[in-house]
Amino acid sequence: MTTETHPEIRPEALRERAAAALTAARARTAGLTDVVSDPDLTAQHSPLMSPLVWDLAHIGNQEELWLLRNVAGREFLRPEINPLYDAFRHPRAERPNLPLLGPQEARGYAAEVRGRVFDLLDRTPLEGTALLDHGFVFGMIAQHEQQHDETMLITHQLRAGDAVLAAPDPEPPQGPPPAAPEVLVPAGPFTMGTSAEPWALDNERPAHVREVAAFRIDTVPVTNAAYQAFIADGGYTDPRWWAAEGWEQIRAHGIGAPLFWRREAGQWLRRRFGVTEPVPDDEPVLHVSWYEADAYARWAGRRLPTEAEWEKAARHDPATGRSRRYPWGDADPSPGHANLGQRHLRPARAGCYPAGASPLGVRQLIGDVWEWTASDFLPYPGFRAFPYREYSEVFFGPEHKVLRGGSFAVDPVACRGTFRNWDLPVRRQIFSGFRTARDA
Ligand code: AVJ
Ligand code: FE
Repeated sequence: MTTETHPEIRPEALRERAAAALTAARARTAGLTDVVSDPDLTAQHSPLMSPLVWDLAHIGNQEELWLLRNVAGREFLRPEINPLYDAFRHPRAERPNLPLLGPQEARGYAAEVRGRVFDLLDRTPLEGTALLDHGFVFGMIAQHEQQHDETMLITHQLRAGDAVLAAPDPEPPQGPPPAAPEVLVPAGPFTMGTSAEPWALDNERPAHVREVAAFRIDTVPVTNAAYQAFIADGGYTDPRWWAAEGWEQIRAHGIGAPLFWRREAGQWLRRRFGVTEPVPDDEPVLHVSWYEADAYARWAGRRLPTEAEWEKAARHDPATGRSRRYPWGDADPSPGHANLGQRHLRPARAGCYPAGASPLGVRQLIGDVWEWTASDFLPYPGFRAFPYREYSEVFFGPEHKVLRGGSFAVDPVACRGTFRNWDLPVRRQIFSGFRTARDA
């Protein structure tokens, strides 16, 4: 038997929640796109990323497809643009050459779709079909927009030129520092994944029991200071620590530090959203590939946690045997629990958010940095693609590694103890860090 907590939400509250999630996503989208000029919106800032104006219209196009066409049965407003915004038809590097909607057209299109969606949300019962039950498809579209908002924030980080985004720095740690550098998670079964969370996406389902051997996991993510010790010890020049393809990548591209770092006058500097600054010692390391995380862990005599270990550390409550929605319990994230939602433009220092700790005292599992795990992105037993194969299923396999926990750039609507992200192991422009583990 699997055990997880079941949040019960009234239908009226679900409707409000869906409306608020869509509105919050659009406010963030506007904040990310209104601060740059039209040429900046249509330019490609990195071959890894779409022009911002593509994300903008793609957000509207997915919303139109799922809510106006598939739920409400309407005709497309502009059927001829659909192929332009199909992510599988055109790789990112090619998107600037497409006859995309311009910035004003893209904004107008997304706004027109949104107006019709709010009419639909007012009239549609949030039950009766798998798409509508608990308002799932509205939640899915709010999450989709927020995921592209994180993608657009990555584009901002890659963009050359002066800073255009601002946010206050996170508060320093409140309360006592963690008691020990690692936490023992005892052996035993736990419930992984979810069948109860209404807006969980297909790859998080269904809940199932996993046996996990005893292991120890870092109390906080690996910091810049710890990572600098790896660099100073010749970590990037010793093939012993590296997976073969990782070694090839760092040789071929002359990689010797996290992305956006550079060495100047005996000091590590980094560029962060248009500002160059000293690398802060006590912040979780950011912009490392899976290969870099894996090499660091081997150098440290440790390893990356598996995805099941990560989720057990984050959700399992040894007192009740149940899996929580979040490390701190079942309450939705608040600013005191975790650094989420682009409230800050950087991770908080390691050791922050004692109120967000897991029952065993593991901190900052949610927010700050996406955490690479040792695991390939694979379906859970009983997985069913829903509502479309291209969200998860086409990415399953050994070529993608799983990241967990969400970064400072992830909105709470798209972040849970069960949420799974994935990417290629060479990727480092994402807001990725890690923590390490070892067998107990
Ligand atoms: C889950 C973040 C890997 O951005 O490629 C957005 C999310 N899927 N539109 C991605 C997504 C379709 C996806 N990730
Ligand atoms: Fe998308």
